[in-house]
Amino acid sequence: MSAASDDLLAKVRVQGAVPRHVAIIMDGNGRWARERLLPRPIGHRQGMKAVREVVEASLEVGVEVLSLFAFSQENWQRPAGEVSALMSLLEEYIQKEADELDAQGVRVVFLGDLDRLGTPQRAAVDRVMAQTAANSKLVLNLFISYGSRAEITRAARLLAEEVAAGRMTPAQVDEAALAGKLFTADCPDPDLLIRTSGEMRISNFLLWQLAYTELHISPVFWPDFGRCELYGAILDFLNRDRRFGRVSA
Ligand code: IPE
Ligand code: IPE
Ligand code: MG
Repeated sequence: MSAASDDLLAKVRVQGAVPRHVAIIMDGNGRWARERLLPRPIGHRQGMKAVREVVEASLEVGVEVLSLFAFSQENWQRPAGEVSALMSLLEEYIQKEADELDAQGVRVVFLGDLDRLGTPQRAAVDRVMAQTAANSKLVLNLFISYGSRAEITRAARLLAEEVAAGRMTPAQVDEAALAGKLFTADCPDPDLLIRTSGEMRISNFLLWQLAYTELHISPVFWPDFGRCELYGAILDFLNRDRRFGRVSA
């Protein structure tokens, strides 16, 4: 913590209600490394440190759900060396952080097509989810091998199966039923979506859930994103007028 982040945290506290659910597209690890003439995996490793700081900052400020986009379905198409570096880092992250996260009261949840993970990664993921399942201070959703279109398609297929089996009628297929079949069924929709590295796109993340989420694009590459940037984004969010299609109060 620094004087600057303390000051921002105090400002957030003065404003009152923080977003319940913050989602982040953690982008720019590769460019962070390239700027320093380092290999891309070094950027990913540095990005892991930013995850730690942002989790701690979320606990401090009282966010209930933190959703991090860590690896997309499309990211499987990156060069094999980069994919395997990312998978090793995933395992390392769990090994290093599981006990600390557990002690902090964080419930770690992995969401995505986890069947595509290798055996050691899958075992690590299952282990930390089981270890932290009873915690309730902060839900940390880690999206791995995740694509939103695939998630929605899967939900539609699950509903079709219910209807085909006669457990549901077509008329019962409504928004709540579909939302109930998404990986995020237990979470409120994100209030705030942050994307780092200045990119202004959603990249197949939470297409359904982001319907009325406030967007904050940060120019900072993910490895340089920390407390100050998170609190700054929350302050920005607190000044928004969320209308949900209605007129202001
Ligand atoms: C985000 O950083 C991490 C993942 C997508 C896995 P990138 O690897 O996309 O970094 P850039 O966008 O190439 O800089
Ligand atoms: C989005 O970043 C996915 C994650 C942050 C995990 P990408 O770097 O893969 O997205 P594009 O290719 O720039 O849209
Ligand atoms: Mg990127």
